Amino acid sequence: MSEPFLIGQNMTGGYSKGGPDILHNCTISVDRGEIAVIVGPNGAGKSTAMKAVFGMLDLREGSVTLDGEDITSLSPQDRVVKGMGFVPQTSNIFPSLTVEENLEMGAFIRTDDFSDTMAQIYDLFPILKDKRSQAAGELSGGQRQQVAVGRALMTKPKLLMLDEPTAGVSPIVMDELFDRIIDVARTGIPILMVEQNARQALEIADKGYVLVQGANAHTGSGKELLANPEVRQSFLGG
Ligand SMILES: Nc1ncnc2c1ncn2[C@@H]1O[C@H](COP(=O)(O)OP(=O)(O)O)[C@@H](O)[C@H]1O
Ligand SMILES: [Mg+2]
Repeated sequence: MSEPFLIGQNMTGGYSKGGPDILHNCTISVDRGEIAVIVGPNGAGKSTAMKAVFGMLDLREGSVTLDGEDITSLSPQDRVVKGMGFVPQTSNIFPSLTVEENLEMGAFIRTDDFSDTMAQIYDLFPILKDKRSQAAGELSGGQRQQVAVGRALMTKPKLLMLDEPTAGVSPIVMDELFDRIIDVARTGIPILMVEQNARQALEIADKGYVLVQGANAHTGSGKELLANPEVRQSFLGG
């Protein structure tokens, strides 16, 4: 069996050298064709784990491997070049730029013609095509998240990482966003996603991680975690 497409292995570290460790021997992996979901309480280190995988943390220990290549020492920008698309939890769009300008900004590493990719993103998120000339900051929360995901897709990533893509949206919009994320996964792009809507996210997850205090607490298929009494009691509200 080949190793997972993305592995953040035994990641230990925090935000500053000499500062406290936030992650403790944390391991996250995503296979080809898979949706992996990270859930856990507020402050558990979910965003920190995503940033560590994306190269925004100086890890004291551990490694990150993408498609068989050790990328532990690469900058975030170089990881984008290697095929990582990352939508952070906050400040993930340019509010004063139009929707289309946001997508163009997403293509910053590309030197080829990206009009096909933009057309694909408009097919995936038709509302963005209607609003292409509108400032992204004027859009609804769910539409802004579509802009953020679209922006990340403009690099034609080999892997998409999403930190709380459904934060602050209604249940209906959440379902729609999850459907679009499944659509992206079906195009062959593995997804690593942090979600506070844990139950709904685990329902669409091939694999789930429960993080607690920067460490792996539970790992299993989405189904296994949803059926695990301890996970249900502690993290899914019974
Ligand atoms: N930029 C930062 N600098 C220092 N500490 C941070 C920073 N961001 C988050 N933390 C700390 O890291 C811990 C985990 O936070 P975070 O990864 O954001 O949790 P989660 O995403 O699971 O809610 C918290 O104790 C938080 O205070
Ligand atoms: Mg977070």
